[in-house]
Amino acid sequence: MSSALIQLRELRCHFQSGQGLLAAVDGVNLDIEAGEVLGLVGESGSGKSTLGRIIAGLQPRSAGELIIAGKAMPQHYNRRQFKTMSTQVQMVFQDSYASLNPRMTILASLQEPLWSQGVAATTARAKAAYWLERVGLPQSAGERYPHELSGGQRQRIGIARAFIAEPRLVICDEPVSALDVSVQAQIINLLQELQSEHNTAMLFIAHDLAVVRFLASRTAVMYLGEIVELGETAALFEGPRHPYTTRLLASHLDGKLHQRNTTAVVPIKSQAHKTPLATDSGCRFAPRCPLAEAACSSNPPWLRETRLATEAACHRLADIEIAKLRQ
Ligand SMILES: Nc1ncnc2c1ncn2[C@@H]1O[C@H](COP(=O)(O)OP(=O)(O)OP(=O)(O)O)[C@@H](O)[C@H]1O
Ligand code: SF4
Ligand SMILES: [Mg+2]
Repeated sequence: MSSALIQLRELRCHFQSGQGLLAAVDGVNLDIEAGEVLGLVGESGSGKSTLGRIIAGLQPRSAGELIIAGKAMPQHYNRRQFKTMSTQVQMVFQDSYASLNPRMTILASLQEPLWSQGVAATTARAKAAYWLERVGLPQSAGERYPHELSGGQRQRIGIARAFIAEPRLVICDEPVSALDVSVQAQIINLLQELQSEHNTAMLFIAHDLAVVRFLASRTAVMYLGEIVELGETAALFEGPRHPYTTRLLASHLDGKLHQRNTTAVVPIKSQAHKTPLATDSGCRFAPRCPLAEAACSSNPPWLRETRLATEAACHRLADIEIAKLRQ
């Protein structure tokens, strides 16, 4: 039996849509170990935020199990259960402004997670003062309101708020993509320092693959609600096995080249997204996959071990591995 901090078993989240039941998350099995940084990547709409929100208790799941520190979580939380869960899991959002109460001072916002846990007022105040400094802000910032801070300063507060109650897992959903490029690296470094100082597990959701490669020891690749590849970051980036991962990494690289030199490779255009429906059969990547064969559209692939420290969900894994050996 797994002893992982977070265990997801056949986790599903379906939404009603005009076309039928949209499968935002569809049968995800995933463990997050205590203290590890797990990267989560995939195109827009692949279900990354929905998965993060389910783990943080902000989105009810439709089916499957969510186990946190050995405890099976209910599908819907009451207030008391949510309070208990939020001592274990916290989230850092892309939009730091929306995650702070505009009518609360920064010092009050920092103390809020502690108040809700019943921490004494003097202790909460002292901790908030410590965390202001720890994330690189002067004490005077505590008296300000969110709109009086820059985006980078607000995200520092969002991070302090996530770490202040010493959760076991912090979920970061695109924490730097709304910030100026000049402050992104500082925020990434801060997250990395805090994660290792406190040995907090981290689920790091990002479009920027270079940042995921830098931070995460393992990476999961999502495509239309499913995890299609999972494993050690170095192995996954150096030897992607799933055709979607290969394409994602190639288009990222092409994009970077394109940014540096406009005469270089043009980024691969992604085709229009198919909406993932709960009734889909077969591999969801089949309409875009250069290796698709007849069986791919009727039978769903499942995660299987590759020759590297990864798993990939592809019927043609054996052919892909042989081709890689010949390269
Ligand atoms: N509350 C909701 N109601 C209906 N559909 C939703 C809801 N939340 C998410 N979805 C749909 O679920 C799918 C997954 O969305 P999600 O936001 O999790 O993707 P994502 O991978 O985080 O994308 P991005 O990279 O753009 O942030 C999308 O098709 C989205 O439109
Ligand atoms: S299962 Fe088939 S369609 Fe899906 S990724 Fe593999 S080869 Fe491509
Ligand atoms: Mg998202």
